[in-house]
Amino acid sequence: METHILLLGLVALCCCSLSFSSDPSPLQDFCIADTNSTVKVNGLACKDPMLAQAADFSFSGLHLAGNTSNAVGSRVTPVNAAQIPGLNTLGISIVRIDYALCGNNPPHIHPRATEVLTVLEGTLQVGFVTSNPENRLISKVLQKGDVFVFPVGHVHFQRNVGVGNAVAISTLSSQNPGVITIANAVFKSNPPIPETFLPRPSKLIKPLLT
Ligand SMILES: *[C@@H]1O[C@H](CO)[C@@H](O)[C@H](O)[C@H]1NC(C)=O
Ligand SMILES: *[C@@H]1O[C@H](CO)[C@@H](O)[C@H](O)[C@H]1NC(C)=O
Repeated sequence: METHILLLGLVALCCCSLSFSSDPSPLQDFCIADTNSTVKVNGLACKDPMLAQAADFSFSGLHLAGNTSNAVGSRVTPVNAAQIPGLNTLGISIVRIDYALCGNNPPHIHPRATEVLTVLEGTLQVGFVTSNPENRLISKVLQKGDVFVFPVGHVHFQRNVGVGNAVAISTLSSQNPGVITIANAVFKSNPPIPETFLPRPSKLIKPLLT
């Protein structure tokens, strides 16, 4: 009997930690970010709900292509709580991603969000890598209208493998998903990670050769 109660307790604990893997649920209709507030809370302080206006819940311009003239040939146009104050505490946001010919969105993580990507134009190769120790790559080529899920916290990427530009829209399960670009975080941190800690491709490849 006691073991059953213990097991039930463990299951309940697991459920709790799962429900906290994205933004917490709101406790009121909405909490429009008060961008002038200096109060430090988890998220952003609320402005007086009686002052709510349509502008607090809207954004215009997602029909416009992002400028992909950069080293990676892609551009993310974010629409999160920084662009729409009314998204504060609601646990959701959206981005537009533009890809030039052969452009890519290099391997990165969203520490706080699962991402659901929909291809609007073009052809994308996408993928994510599972946790240690397998580190299995799960990858697919997507066409217009295809949808793909990147589970929260996993290294993932997209690459334009089509014959023209590509466009995608992604929704993310956080008002502020955050981005950690793997190569920048590891090799370009400020100050730099001491070289002795840095992975060397030769070290990683060696076990495969022997
Ligand atoms: C922030 O302060 C400025 C200047 O006082 C004001 O114009 C603006 O409406 C304020 N914004 C919010 C969200 O209260
Ligand atoms: C796109 O970005 C490049 C590089 O920053 C810049 O030279 C160019 O003027 C931009 N194009 C537009 C249309 O803004």
